[in-house]
Amino acid sequence: MAPRRAAVIFRKMHLNLKSLRKDMKKFIINGCGGRKKLKGEYVVSGSKNSGLPAIAMTLLFKEPVTLKNIPEIEDVFRISEIVEKMGAEIDRKKNTFIINTKSLDNSKIDRELGETIRSSIILTGPVLARTGKVEFYFPGGCSIGKRPIDLFLTSFEKMGAKVGGRGDKIIIRSKDKNLRGAELILPVQSVTATETLMMAAVLAKGKTVIKNAAMEPEIEYLANYLKMVGAEIEGAGSPTITIKGRNGKLLEKNIPPYVNMADRIEAGSIAILAALNASDLLIRHFVKDHLEIFLDIFDRIGVKYTFPRKNVLRIKSQNVKKFKAVNIKTHEHPGFPTDLQSQMGVLLTQADGESRIFETIFESRLSYLNGLAQMGARIEMWNIHQAAIFGPRQLTGTRLLAPDLRAGFAYIIAGVTARGQTIIDNSYVIRRGYENILQKLQEIGVDIEEKYEAFF
Ligand code: EPU
Repeated sequence: MAPRRAAVIFRKMHLNLKSLRKDMKKFIINGCGGRKKLKGEYVVSGSKNSGLPAIAMTLLFKEPVTLKNIPEIEDVFRISEIVEKMGAEIDRKKNTFIINTKSLDNSKIDRELGETIRSSIILTGPVLARTGKVEFYFPGGCSIGKRPIDLFLTSFEKMGAKVGGRGDKIIIRSKDKNLRGAELILPVQSVTATETLMMAAVLAKGKTVIKNAAMEPEIEYLANYLKMVGAEIEGAGSPTITIKGRNGKLLEKNIPPYVNMADRIEAGSIAILAALNASDLLIRHFVKDHLEIFLDIFDRIGVKYTFPRKNVLRIKSQNVKKFKAVNIKTHEHPGFPTDLQSQMGVLLTQADGESRIFETIFESRLSYLNGLAQMGARIEMWNIHQAAIFGPRQLTGTRLLAPDLRAGFAYIIAGVTARGQTIIDNSYVIRRGYENILQKLQEIGVDIEEKYEAFF
């Protein structure tokens, strides 16, 4: 065999082995079983879903950009590696990334890396807008349902690009030197498509209007920073965003650091864990404005909490006889976030009566309910989008496989709430989105450890 080919095969085998080893890790949790034990302070990390577009955003700059409070998690490392492979330089010290894209010299999103994370698609807009070309393969990511990219492709076409490809490869070329501003109507509200197109439009020629844009806080946060450094963006956080393009001129000069927002999904996940298991827990960087509907659902269930200081949530041992059943319907922001649906599902197993869940965004985000049923929850699955939970039921530890990041965290909450021991296989999938989660949970009193399977 030719040495080059052998090297490629060896590298692939090594990568597979590495990812297999990661998958062979498991969390082992000894549950509180009804005792309210968790206490102390939990500090929420920087947001995954705003850290990722922030890294892509650095491609719009001529000069280095400093990003702070970026979580040290797998998804962030993967997108950083992709950007490095394109020629950018990253100087990283813990949560601070200094990214210099000056010597970016190619437009290819690495296949292996791109296929490990869905968010690699965010890079397409900035790369195309900056270099006039982008080559990539269909992105990968969590298995939570269909993750099409049609909105990206049709919008790039409207901005004057030609979409083509060979085999699995997608190649997009800008017909003129720069993308053209356009009216982009998104038939479905998509967070990543909104961010990607907004960033592409910053460098396009002329005005772009994005209609039916997603309104998640991460989008407004990104837009606010871009505006601070000279981009002309109006309406981010509303359904219509208007961007005046810079005709290819990169952003430069007087670039203050980008300080990443706190992770609202981590904050909500820990609040649910605390509602079920805390004696007295403070959650720092819990931004109330980002979690209004979540707190409204807490009120309806009867979870008691206070804000002793701005952005600090305190949850003490619940002095309520019974939590009340509620119905949850996921919806784009400002509706109830799909990323907190499975964690809330665990809380509802402890609520009195029938709660209904309607997951409207993704098709495979209710499968975790099978795991909760194995732990003793009473569940009726109606279809892939709807289910009913009848509570309260005592949960008992068992062995489960984390299906995806958020459902995996839901199993942690269930394991901590349960009686006995819960083993969660595929712990890696949880770690890839929650920074330093093992230590942070241990510090507030969760009895959790991570182990390799012995035979590997
Ligand atoms: N959609 C299309 N066509 C497209 C793109 C999306 O039909 O071209 C549809 C999807 O199939 C889905 C809906 O639009 O039904 C919304 O998906 P969206 O594009 O908004 O999801 P995303 O941008 O890929 C982000 C978050 C997800 C989060 C969703 C919804 C990031 C990096 N990811 O994904 O986060 O669930 O928005 O809020 O921001 C997570 O953190 O665990 C996670 C999955």
